[in-house]
Amino acid sequence: MKATAQIGVTGLAVMGRNLARNFARHGYTVAVHNRTPARTKALVEEFGHEGAFVAAGTAEEFVAALERPRRLMIMVQAGAATDAVIEEFAPLLESGDMIIDGGNAHFADTRRREQSLRERGIHFVGAGVSGGEEGALNGPSIMPGGSPESYASLGPMFESISAKVDGEPCATHIGTDGAGHFVKMVHNGIEYADMQLIGEAYDLLRRVGGYTPAQIAEIFRRWNKGRLDSYLIEITAEVLAHSDPASGAPFVDVVVDAAGQKGTGRWTVQTALDLGSPVTAISQATFARAASSQSGLRAAYRDLPGGTHWELSATEAERFTSQVEHALYASKLIAYDQGWKMILDAADEYGWDIDLGEVAKIWRGGCIIRAAFLDRIRAAYAVDPALVSLLSDAGFAAEIKDAQVPWREVIATAARRGVPVPAFSAALSYYDTLRADRLPAALTQGQRDYFGAHTYRRTDRDGSFHTLWGEAG
Ligand code: ATR
Repeated sequence: MKATAQIGVTGLAVMGRNLARNFARHGYTVAVHNRTPARTKALVEEFGHEGAFVAAGTAEEFVAALERPRRLMIMVQAGAATDAVIEEFAPLLESGDMIIDGGNAHFADTRRREQSLRERGIHFVGAGVSGGEEGALNGPSIMPGGSPESYASLGPMFESISAKVDGEPCATHIGTDGAGHFVKMVHNGIEYADMQLIGEAYDLLRRVGGYTPAQIAEIFRRWNKGRLDSYLIEITAEVLAHSDPASGAPFVDVVVDAAGQKGTGRWTVQTALDLGSPVTAISQATFARAASSQSGLRAAYRDLPGGTHWELSATEAERFTSQVEHALYASKLIAYDQGWKMILDAADEYGWDIDLGEVAKIWRGGCIIRAAFLDRIRAAYAVDPALVSLLSDAGFAAEIKDAQVPWREVIATAARRGVPVPAFSAALSYYDTLRADRLPAALTQGQRDYFGAHTYRRTDRDGSFHTLWGEAG
């Protein structure tokens, strides 16, 4: 087989097929391969007219179809299947060839695979691909890790097929080895937080504000014209406006209130614990999904007493709505700040050189958390690339200042009324923790020294101290 393809895609389920079509539509010759050849045949039969595909029946044919250095993208299930496919192809490749894993791999697996393939002279690129099947076809946000040399070869292709915002591609080299998959994981964690915060805002507007889902859809549509402008707010309005055709009830009322997850939020939280990164809004969002699915426990708690109920007048409800917008925005800002800091912590831990402004840039399109807000984050990093926190930016700091009274009133109201706001309150507590002059951590240290002789440091002297507690008096 003549080597004519600039890229090969193996694994032609929905994501792989759509990415292959996206490459072909952008003028690349794409070799396509799948364990079960029927999928390859179906792709070429159905979409062959969209561009130049080379259908490969065997692994050998697939590799032979690729121009050198070869670019071979695998789009199979994360985990054992990815390892199996790497092991199938790696022996057929030569030094300088590239294997790209565009699946949702855990970054630690990507680091392991990168190291092992590097020792065999092969570039391994773990690339986060966001935006689901629609994004894969029409323009995803692409977060490749791996070596800079591999990006020099792959970058133009990724940038060509990625989403574009203001003419700029939503693809950039994130950092070496597993950095791309790490950043994709945090993206998903932030997505969990964003969705939970929006959910809490909805719950408050409904249970405290007294609005119907259709009215809340209108509120979200209005918010979507302001600083909260984002894909998630937009689709929330659509979901809330939707009526169930069978019953005529609001759609949201006929859906079982137990949230599922595929695991990337959990990975973010597990990794955050290892890194010591306090991503409290992301973890509350992840735990909120888990709690919603604890049906037995929910039944055991259901009849326990809660807050007090009172009605809001129309004017009060309007005021409350505006307060919720502030609370949502401020909490979202904190959730993103936590995610950003987690990326910084990982960059320190793993020696990645990650440009956080670029991360904001490539999340502006092609992914679930795309939002006008990300342009603001990008602008903040353009002013100061070494920002420790988003709140060190004057614009964001001013917005947090404006949000103080409403943010706190909303959370206080939620507590009085008995409406759960785990992510709102986690965000506010995080904010208050970090701005505190003194934290009760000093007391924790005292307790640790008391029961475990763990020692403590003093505010007025260097060194490490231990008190002989039995004798203290
Ligand atoms: P989706 O969820 O989009 O359907 P997926 O389940 O993540 O995708 O991936 C399925 C793809 O991985 C398929 O192309 C599948 O090949 P088959 O069509 O032959 O089932 C591929 N795949 C899964 N395990 C594999 C393995 N061990 N070796 C090769 N390909 C494998």
